Amino acid sequence: MTNTAESPSIKMLRQDQLDTVISKEQIDQRLKEMGAAISETYKDTEKLVIIAILKGSFMFLADLIRYIDVPCQIEFVRLASYGNSKKSSGSIRPVDLTLPNLANEDVLLVEDIIDSGLTLSFFIDYLQSLHKTKSLRLAVLLDKPEARSPKAAPVAIDFSGFNVGNEFLIGYGLDYAGFYRNLPYIAAIPPEHQ
Ligand code: PRP
Repeated sequence: MTNTAESPSIKMLRQDQLDTVISKEQIDQRLKEMGAAISETYKDTEKLVIIAILKGSFMFLADLIRYIDVPCQIEFVRLASYGNSKKSSGSIRPVDLTLPNLANEDVLLVEDIIDSGLTLSFFIDYLQSLHKTKSLRLAVLLDKPEARSPKAAPVAIDFSGFNVGNEFLIGYGLDYAGFYRNLPYIAAIPPEHQ
């Protein structure tokens, strides 16, 4: 699921060859609801620090924060574990973990998908070992509960967009070998093309 070196053996499909799993309209409607729930939760908060986990979360973050009406500071970290594969390598590569001091801050993590759970389990553990935040919550667009690895610590999702089945998904920030992130909807590669 991440951008790495070129992989000539992977055939990229046109948009009309893909199966839509969650439409642009469904995503937008759900983001409005999530934004309202997040705004309500933090309505008395002076400042919310949102940390998005790149690269996959860039589109979700950009659209979600338009529906959040409390003062926000936006931060980014970058982690990678999929390479050109459709399965997690099982080891999380911290590409950029640069963050400001989060002591006594209300922090909301924004992630596009929780699949094996290893990325979030790693990052939450890392964050908690370094920063004594006032609160820490999690907003995830897609939850794939059937895919959780026994090696991932259980993670509580405070704001969840959609539960999805155990199929490989692309689009709306999610990639296959670095491609498809630009699709405005969530899609699957049809079985005949896998
Ligand atoms: C993807 C996705 C999540 C993570 C979820 O990132 O964006 O961060 O995998 O999978 P997990 O629950 O199995 O850990 P990836 O490592 O592909 O990097 P990317 O965000 O740069 O695509």
